[in-house]
Formats: sequence, C-alpha cells, structure tokens
Amino acid sequence: MARRSASMTLWDTILLVVAFCMHAGIVSRVVHSANVTCEFPAIYGFGDSLMDVGNAIAAFPNQFAYAEKNPNGVIWPMHSADRMCDGKLLIDFFSLGSSLGPTYPWLRSTATNPQWGTNFAVAGATARNQTDLWVPDSGFNTPFSLNLQLQWLQRYKVRLDLYYQQTYVNQSLPAYDTLNTSLYIVQAGFQDYFFPLYNMKSTSRTLLSNVPEVVYAIRDLLKGLADFGATRVLVVNMPPLGCFPALLTLYPASIDKYNSYGCLTNLNKISIAHNEALEQEVVALRTTYTNTTFYLGDFYSVYTNILKTPQVYNITETLKACCGTGGAYNFNKDVTCSEIGTVGNQAVNLTTAPCSNSKAFLSWDGIHPSNAANRAAAAAFFAGKHITPSNFNCSANTSSWDSSF
Ligand SMILES: *[C@@H]1O[C@H](CO)[C@@H](O)[C@H](O)[C@H]1NC(C)=O
Ligand SMILES: *[C@@H]1O[C@H](CO)[C@@H](O)[C@H](O)[C@H]1NC(C)=O
Ligand SMILES: *[C@@H]1O[C@H](CO)[C@@H](O)[C@H](O)[C@H]1NC(C)=O
Ligand SMILES: *[C@@H]1O[C@H](CO)[C@@H](O)[C@H](O)[C@H]1NC(C)=O
Ligand SMILES: *[C@@H]1O[C@H](CO)[C@@H](O)[C@H](O)[C@H]1NC(C)=O
Ligand SMILES: *[C@@H]1O[C@H](CO)[C@@H](O)[C@H](O)[C@H]1NC(C)=O
Ligand SMILES: *[C@@H]1O[C@H](CO)[C@@H](O)[C@H](O)[C@H]1NC(C)=O
Ligand SMILES: *[C@@H]1O[C@H](CO)[C@@H](O)[C@H](O)[C@H]1NC(C)=O
Ligand SMILES: *[C@@H]1O[C@H](CO)[C@@H](O)[C@H](O)[C@H]1NC(C)=O
Repeated sequence: MARRSASMTLWDTILLVVAFCMHAGIVSRVVHSANVTCEFPAIYGFGDSLMDVGNAIAAFPNQFAYAEKNPNGVIWPMHSADRMCDGKLLIDFFSLGSSLGPTYPWLRSTATNPQWGTNFAVAGATARNQTDLWVPDSGFNTPFSLNLQLQWLQRYKVRLDLYYQQTYVNQSLPAYDTLNTSLYIVQAGFQDYFFPLYNMKSTSRTLLSNVPEVVYAIRDLLKGLADFGATRVLVVNMPPLGCFPALLTLYPASIDKYNSYGCLTNLNKISIAHNEALEQEVVALRTTYTNTTFYLGDFYSVYTNILKTPQVYNITETLKACCGTGGAYNFNKDVTCSEIGTVGNQAVNLTTAPCSNSKAFLSWDGIHPSNAANRAAAAAFFAGKHITPSNFNCSANTSSWDSSF
C-alpha cells in the first residue's frame, strides 16, 4: 500500500513535468509519436474484388448479382454484403480501426454514407488500362481499371469543392481540406493474374512477362495520388496465388511442384515477381514524392505466416475453401459460392451457411481471402509488422473488428 502511494506520487510528478514540457512545446516530438488510436479523417479505396464493396454490382447488376447473395457477408454485415467475402475486407478493418464507418461504393446512390470516404474499387477491374482495343484475357473485365478510378477521385474532388459552395444539397461529406491527410488504400493486380489463370486463358510464363505492365499501372495510380495531394498511401502486395484453393484445384501437379505448405511454387513465383517489382517502384516513388508517405503492406508474408502457424490465428483450414464443394480443396468451378447446381449427379446448394465456422478458414470461396485473412493483415499493418515504413504512429481501434452488424 505504502509502496503504491509512493509510486503514485512519483507518477504524478512525472505527469506534471510532462504537462509542463508539453505546454512549453519541449517534447513535441514525443507527443507526435504517442500511442494514440488512429484517426484518419477519411479512407479511399482503389482496386479489384479484394477491395470492392459494391461498385461492380451497381454497374452490372446481373453479372455480379451473387455479390449481394448469401452466404457472402455471413458473419458481417450478414445481408447484402456486396463483398466477395464472409465478412470484412482489408479496407473495412482499416475504416473500423480508425473509428470510422465502412466505405461505400462510388457508383451507388442509395443507402450509402459517404462521410467516411469513398470506395472506388471495382470487382473485375484490372490494374492495367482497360481499352476497347485490348482483348481481355481474364474472361469478364469491367472497364473500370485503375486509370479510370483515379479520374473518379479527381471528379470527386471537383464535386466536393462545389458541394461546399452550395446550400441546397445537404449531405454528410468529408471536409474538403481533409483530402490530403486521408488514407488512400490500393489493392490491385489480382484481377490481372488470377482470372487469366482461372479461365485458363494464360500460362504462368505469360503472366510473369506481364508483371512489369501491371506494376507500372499501379505505379501510375500511386503517382496520380501523390500529384493529387495524398500524403498517406497504403499499397498492398499480392498474396501467394499458388495457395488459393481454386488454382490448386484447376492446376493439379506432381508432388515436387508444391512447397512445404502445399502451395504451387510456379504460381507463387508470379506473386513474388510482382511484389519485388512493386517494392522497387515504391522505393523510387519515395525519393521523388517526399511529401507522401507510401506504405507498402506485405500481404504475401502475412498469408505465409498464417500458413506457417495457423493456430496463432485460430485457423484450421489453410488450403480449403469455406464456401465451396468437393475435392481436396473444397472447390469446384461448376458450382461456386452462392450458386445452386449439380456436381456429377449430386445437387449442390451453396446459398446457405457453407462451413460451420468461416473464421477458421484462410480462403472464403476458393478465390477471395477470408475475413480471417484480411483481419490478420490489418492487425499486422496497424501493429507495424509486414509493412514499411513500420509505423502509422497510432494503433487500431479494434472494438468493432469482430462485430457481426
Ligand atoms: C511517426 O513518428 C516518427 C517519430 O516521431 C516520425 O519520424 C514519422 O515521420 C512519423 N510518421 C508519420 C506518418 O507521421
Ligand atoms: C498501443 O496501445 C494498444 C492498446 O491501447 C496496445 O495494444 C499496443 O501494444 C500499443 N502499442 C505500442 C507500440 O505501445
Ligand atoms: C472506437 O470505435 C467505437 C465504434 O466502433 C467508438 O464508439 C469508440 O469511441 C472508438 N474509440 C476511440 C478511442 O476512438
Ligand atoms: C492509361 O491511361 C491513362 C489515362 O487515363 C494514360 O495517361 C496512361 O498513359 C495510360 N497508360 C498506358 C500504359 O497506356
Ligand atoms: C442539414 O442536415 C442537418 C442534419 O439533418 C440539419 O441539422 C441541418 O439543419 C441541415 N442544414 C440545412 C442547411 O438544411
Ligand atoms: C493538398 O496537396 C496539393 C498538392 O500537393 C496542394 O496543391 C494543396 O494545396 C494541398 N491542400 C491542402 C489543404 O493542404
Ligand atoms: C511539398 O509540399 C510543400 C508545401 O506544400 C511544397 O512547397 C513542395 O513543393 C512539395 N514538394 C513536392 C515534391 O511536391
Ligand atoms: C483466437 O481465439 C482466442 C480464444 O477464443 C482469442 O482469445 C484470440 O483473440 C483469437 N485470436 C484471433 C487472432 O482471432
Ligand atoms: C438452398 O438452400 C437454401 C437455404 O437453406 C434454401 O432456402 C433453398 O430453398 C435451397 N435451394 C434449393 C434449390 O435447394
């Protein structure tokens, strides 16, 4: 008791000294790096289906109808997920982690709340420019590649400026002068590699040769964001493609073609080549754009860490899809998540709770990472792990990370 009150007194003295120094501006650097909850004024997202919260279905209601169907969103937000995930995407963890609400899609005009930022990502969007001359090699492509998403942001800024000059529209929107200090998240390139493989339109050799173009397209967006005035940009790299249940199912190989985690080595090489090229570009951009902090989030190593020690993440299934059917990887292209059909003579219904606990799976539908994978990446990045530079100078507000509403 005595010891305790003595140390309290000492503590009070320290606080007094700190308060005095703060008042005098002496420890402003220390205050700057204090462990406070992250408060990005708003968040803006760019990319493909790993980031889309409803743009694709807004643009193509029939083609992407499944995004709104169960069991997508089974653990959050439980209905009309508009996300190809059982729960939250990486950007959702960032929004909630910054005490904001989730981002809403740019292309939807009803039941949205743009006060926390806007999400420009579109499922099906390539990083590379989509032009009508370019014959898509990935099955279905939206026209909304990164160059167009950047134009949307520039248009958004014009409208935001006009909004604050008007009096007849009353909406909750971020303040105009928060545009430079908001967080910009880019998660792109997956469409460029995954779907050509999924649709068997491209070989891994061709995809390796596409890496420079894909990375340049991402670099062009990053430059565009810096020119726009963004000072905090997080770009996320490619997870190991050879560990995704859909591709493991579609490209069976002899035992020597797998690594120790059961992933296809030649497909992982695409991700590795992409990530090395992306890192080089980001390092170069940092020297050119000194007013912008480019964070590089290493999703690949987060994913690999889960494969190494899944129990740390409460994950039991690393290579099986949660929402899928059949085979070694619980995936069959004939009936994918949210569909009803037959495999062989067997009726399959993937519109209902697919696996009893999706939180135990690394892959949601064989194609997209699960809530658990995205959560692990967000937790790592906020904690300064698997990210450079390794410090947001703030910690995540995790109070609603596991909420189901
Ligand atoms: C984080 O804090 C460190 C140390 O004070 C500082 O050098 C760095 O610029 C800060 N980063 C950001 C993004 O504010
Ligand atoms: C910051 O605070 C959070 C909880 O408030 C804690 O989990 C985290 O470890 C702290 N980080 C540092 C670097 O002190
Ligand atoms: C954390 O987020 C919740 C909402 O999810 C909010 O009620 C709470 O005030 C936030 N905490 C901080 C420290 O901002
Ligand atoms: C992509 O389109 C943008 C215009 O939106 C253009 O500035 C850029 O040069 C194009 N990139 C390539 C590689 O053609
Ligand atoms: C805008 O909406 C808010 C909240 O509904 C309301 O308090 C405010 O009076 C409105 N302002 C105008 C100019 O209509
Ligand atoms: C935002 O950044 C742009 C580009 O660097 C600059 O022109 C503008 O003045 C900045 N705006 C604010 C409010 O700081
Ligand atoms: C950084 O911002 C400052 C102040 O707004 C400006 O004078 C300078 O030109 C900017 N530097 C770059 C590389 O954009
Ligand atoms: C794993 O489960 C334990 C026990 O339920 C829990 O305390 C821990 O936070 C969970 N870890 C993650 C990463 O979800
Ligand atoms: C599929 O399962 C759902 C949920 O259990 C059920 O409502 C629906 O009728 C089933 N559809 C078919 C064709 O069996």
